[in-house]
Amino acid sequence: MKVRIISLDRQNRKHRRQAAELLLENPELWPAMEIARAVINTLLAPNRVCLCAVDDKDRLVGIVGGLPDYDGIVWELHPLVVKKANRGHGIGKKLVKSLEKEAAARGAITVILGTDDLDGSTSLAEVDLYDNMGGRIANIVCRKRHSYEFYLKCGYSIIGAIPDANGMGKPDILMGKRVAKKHKGRKTSLKSLPGGKTE
Ligand SMILES: CC(C)(COP(=O)(O)OP(=O)(O)OC[C@H]1O[C@@H](n2cnc3c(N)ncnc32)[C@H](O)[C@@H]1OP(=O)(O)O)[C@@H](O)C(=O)NCCC(=O)NCCS
Repeated sequence: MKVRIISLDRQNRKHRRQAAELLLENPELWPAMEIARAVINTLLAPNRVCLCAVDDKDRLVGIVGGLPDYDGIVWELHPLVVKKANRGHGIGKKLVKSLEKEAAARGAITVILGTDDLDGSTSLAEVDLYDNMGGRIANIVCRKRHSYEFYLKCGYSIIGAIPDANGMGKPDILMGKRVAKKHKGRKTSLKSLPGGKTE
């Protein structure tokens, strides 16, 4: 399926409405239209990035947001949604890539994100993550389809987890990826750090 990636235009009321409707397709995350609209308005704040995928009929079929942190060195990817009817055609991956490119162009080294496990889809749920978190992350098992696998396919690594972020035993799985382009002038080689490796 062919889509174009564009910035969400604050003046384009049709796209703004479609963006809110897209969020509403996931009521477990955005349970009401006014919440969805408020999220879209927040994404349009000047320091943020909001990209969307539009099909050949100019219908919005996916959206991704980005928020700078750590003086713009780290960007958080949130939210990411693809229209249910259009999933499985590479649109999610394309949106993630576009967000990474935009963040890198604005000075990001790293993109991070959190993906919740609300229903025991992974072995990081329903356990005490304060006990051996590193080991549990290294040996994570996916019991049901979970979006952390999608992000692995986009090149992200699990970099931690927030225990009980959504209630006892319901963690937020933190993932990250280096998005900065290597450049010849870089003074600090990661190889020189203990256990370090270059991209
Ligand atoms: C997650 C989401 C954005 C993926 O979008 P998509 O357009 O269907 O994804 P793509 O087609 O680009 O998929 C790329 C790869 O990831 C896999 N994948 C996609 N969604 C997945 C999921 N939920 N769990 C595991 N793997 C997934 C695909 O099978 C594909 O694998 P392949 O390259 O081996 O064929 C979409 O399912 C969605 O909007 N979900 C609801 C909201 C959500 O969960 N957002 C992320 C929360 S942090």
